[in-house]
Amino acid sequence: MNEADLKKLLKDLTWQEKVGQLIQLSGDFFSSEEALAVGPKQKLGITQETVDLAGSVLNVAGAKKTREIQEKWLQKSRHKIPLLFMADIVYGYRTVFPIPLGLGATWNPDLIKQAYRVTAAEAKASGVHVTFAPMVDLVRDARWGRCLESTGEDTTLNAAFARAMVTGLQHVELGKITGIAACVKHFAAYGAAEGGREYNTVDMSERRLREDYLPGYKAAVEAGSELVMTSFNTYDGIPVTGNEFLLKQILRDEWGFDGVIISDYAAVLELVAHGIAADEKEATLLAMNATNDIDMKTGCYAKQLEPLVREGKLDSKRIDDAVWRVLKLKNKLGLFEDPYRGASSEREQEMLLTEENRNLAYQVAAQSIVLLENKNHTLPLAKNHQKILLVGPYGDNQNLIGLWAIHGNTSDVITIKEAISQHVSSEQFHYTAGCEMLSDYRFLGEFGGSKDQLMRMPQAKREQALAEALRQGEKADVIIYAMGEHTMQSGEAGSRADITLPDVQKEFIQEMLALGKTNILITISGRPLVLTEEAKQMDAILQAWFPGTEGGRVLADILFGKINPSGRLSMSFPYSVGQLPIYYNGFQTGRPLNSKTHSGRFVSKYLDSPNAPLYPFGYGLSYSYVELSDLALDDVEMTEKLQVSVQVKNNSSRSVLETVQLYVQDIVGSVVRPNRELKKFKKINLEAQESATVHFTLTREDLYYYTKNMDFSVEAGDFNVFVGRNSRDTLQASFTLK
Ligand code: BGC
Repeated sequence: MNEADLKKLLKDLTWQEKVGQLIQLSGDFFSSEEALAVGPKQKLGITQETVDLAGSVLNVAGAKKTREIQEKWLQKSRHKIPLLFMADIVYGYRTVFPIPLGLGATWNPDLIKQAYRVTAAEAKASGVHVTFAPMVDLVRDARWGRCLESTGEDTTLNAAFARAMVTGLQHVELGKITGIAACVKHFAAYGAAEGGREYNTVDMSERRLREDYLPGYKAAVEAGSELVMTSFNTYDGIPVTGNEFLLKQILRDEWGFDGVIISDYAAVLELVAHGIAADEKEATLLAMNATNDIDMKTGCYAKQLEPLVREGKLDSKRIDDAVWRVLKLKNKLGLFEDPYRGASSEREQEMLLTEENRNLAYQVAAQSIVLLENKNHTLPLAKNHQKILLVGPYGDNQNLIGLWAIHGNTSDVITIKEAISQHVSSEQFHYTAGCEMLSDYRFLGEFGGSKDQLMRMPQAKREQALAEALRQGEKADVIIYAMGEHTMQSGEAGSRADITLPDVQKEFIQEMLALGKTNILITISGRPLVLTEEAKQMDAILQAWFPGTEGGRVLADILFGKINPSGRLSMSFPYSVGQLPIYYNGFQTGRPLNSKTHSGRFVSKYLDSPNAPLYPFGYGLSYSYVELSDLALDDVEMTEKLQVSVQVKNNSSRSVLETVQLYVQDIVGSVVRPNRELKKFKKINLEAQESATVHFTLTREDLYYYTKNMDFSVEAGDFNVFVGRNSRDTLQASFTLK
């Protein structure tokens, strides 16, 4: 539709029709049996008329269902404005990629762009128009369950992934979105919830907010994200959905964002629970004044917008502006021309879980898994000489897709057991679970249909399972433990205070260690776990996240050396939970550990834990020994640009993917600067024994930060450059900025 016609359409809408465009309801409201929709309506206190006018639908996918709802709705609709279908397609639709924390560990935004392109194509075939992704919340506290959805703790890396994901999802051609629209979330700073406790308060300086937390969202907006979702948390005492500073001043005015802002689930009404609005009406006014356009899943806008305008408390122009943004989005998606956007059951058949898509999921998983330990070259396993026993609750388990893969199908997943058995003979390889996932499932609560998994084994069966594992372990040379968190121990509302492996699994490992065999741990988790004990006990550890549809196959191929592991952590793995929050780019204190002026006690440290994490940001091993040398700068001074180079040598007989990381430290600033900050990275392939020179160009803009007076600028002075394979083990050089 051309802009003039769209404007005319806006003008022709009645008051109620306009409000309708700003309301999002879930699928149950649109049930074909109207009697079933009575309950949900009563809960929100809205009428059928509101449902008939609603502008968008939450979390319905599948060509048949979306077409049915759209068709029925359009028949009733006076102006034939199609419904928008929005859903959480966070890291894959039917083909499930690793969780975003695993995507972060690929350090390969180009590859992830392809993954999101595929995700968009699958979701589009199923009738989804908008996905609530990417999630770019920077996170430094592994207790927070939503680490799972984030690419990690670093500003530069998160921003690179944010750009890649948005461009992959939307894929715009000639001003029209050919993929699906992205909705970056959760704006802003949701990942900094105090104590890692879900939905908790966020409070930080504006400097830290702007410097560390906002760039990820900004990168997504600059890449064209059509929508932004507000977050549940407060910032500086004001919940974000009613926070004019964040939404209006920063997002709209400073960044020029003119797309749709949608509240997170029921977040408009939660302004009342937060204690910043007395009732629905005040909540609505706060959200509208902050320029939040769509109200997800409450009755606030439906019931309160009209009285607010009538009473002169809200300018009706605010409503027109919001509706205009929604109509523009629908138009950009081409919905007026084709309300189904080509979705059909036939299209699903063609597009979903194709061989090609599975291959891409395999490649991504291959680059996401991180080898944390490999003592005495335990891995890869020699195929024909060893007897292998696989144990653990994830050994023969298809639940490898994690909490937010709600449209994925666990039955598509090949288990670790199945995948290993394709490498070795049945005489050589045995599996027995040995122990359960958890000793108590009650605290997990409910999430979708997951209640059925929450059963415990009776005591006698547990003892039998252990006895069987010990018996088989006795005969084995190598024991592989497939351990980890239950799917529901991470993701939304999956905060934990103890982030070690579940107790039953730790106890089981202790029993098995007494056998004195070679021990290999595979950890499946939605967060960095504290693996301090396991790091001592195990000969090798593979951090596998929730690796997705192809995860089982990839793990087996890593174990037997078909894949040389290349994942690098995008979040520090703490040594102890007491260190949290922990991140590599903290400030120097006045009394650093290596202080020469203070005695051992009076320095910044714990008495009972090291300061350093167990595994630092950027860390990961491979089966090759890669050496970095000859860090060189093309000048000792920089005005606009500096060329940095380093020699990289693969001293092994197999090809390897290595991630070369460049960090910078501004030694003296008008405010304290981080110890080091990632500025550049390159993932390169090196054949056996190959050497290469890796070049980086560092620019003046790379050194910008929020100075003492909050200018985003740069200060002349001395800088250190660090280049290495992780944030800890680096070569060093320095230069002076003029
Ligand atoms: C989550 C969002 C999600 C929304 C819709 C909320 O509970 O915080 O990330 O997009 O639900 O499902």
